[in-house]
Amino acid sequence: MNHLNNSVSQADLNEIKKQYQGEDLDIVLNKIASGYPVQYVLGNVNFCGNNIKVNENVLIPRFETEFLVDLIKRTIPNDASLKMIDLGTGSGCIAISLAKIFPNSKITGIDISNKAIDIAEHNKELNKVTNVTFNTSDMKLIENYNGFNIIISNPPYVSKEEETGPETKYEPQNAIFASNNGLYYYEDILKKVSLSTNKPDHIFFEIGMNQSNPILKISNKYLPNYTCDTHKDLAGKDRYIHIYLNK
Ligand SMILES: C[S@@+](CC[C@H](N)C(=O)[O-])C[C@H]1O[C@@H](n2cnc3c(N)ncnc32)[C@H](O)[C@@H]1O
Repeated sequence: MNHLNNSVSQADLNEIKKQYQGEDLDIVLNKIASGYPVQYVLGNVNFCGNNIKVNENVLIPRFETEFLVDLIKRTIPNDASLKMIDLGTGSGCIAISLAKIFPNSKITGIDISNKAIDIAEHNKELNKVTNVTFNTSDMKLIENYNGFNIIISNPPYVSKEEETGPETKYEPQNAIFASNNGLYYYEDILKKVSLSTNKPDHIFFEIGMNQSNPILKISNKYLPNYTCDTHKDLAGKDRYIHIYLNK
């Protein structure tokens, strides 16, 4: 999980001043100065050109997650008519962006948190997309991924021992941390893909720094017929994995 840029731009400050005045403004500015995310104060972020509402019930979409969407956009033809699933959808930022890029496809977004799904539904309305469905569901209880052509996930991947930025203490903790050195959900997803009779052609993950080698090993264990490519972020770190079936 990359740190958020918590500096307040002049535009953000002008917007905050429209929403808060006098003593309330001082309280809010002090809160931001002590690490409270400016995005929660403003209540929305821009993600892939879409206006995404956020509050403390959802992870604030990170800039680098836009690259995951871009990678899918560059890999899959935009007129494709496919079934895609976004696991751990949070605010729905990835699913909604994909729904716009792939208008002929059907996107499902699932999250364990009811409150996150409420925000995702609101964002679906806000962005006027109809080819996306959101459901509350626990990935751990899913038995297989039969029938989905593409799986996408930016799951919780931070190891419980890892130090995180000050803003993460205000974000939902189950959106950030995962067991097994942060690898739990990657293994869970790939194992259940291996148990599917009708397997997806593509799996796209955002991953933490230093996780590419263990995830490649997990992928080779469960999906030996698939190819794994690693992609770097702008800082040159391995941050995305594309696992796909060579036809
Ligand atoms: C890293 S956040 C990603 C949110 C959003 N997709 C994004 O990229 O901004 C991970 C999400 O997974 C959800 N989550 C955690 N455990 C889950 C589980 N067992 N089943 C389904 N979703 C889960 C969290 O609620 C959170 O919204």
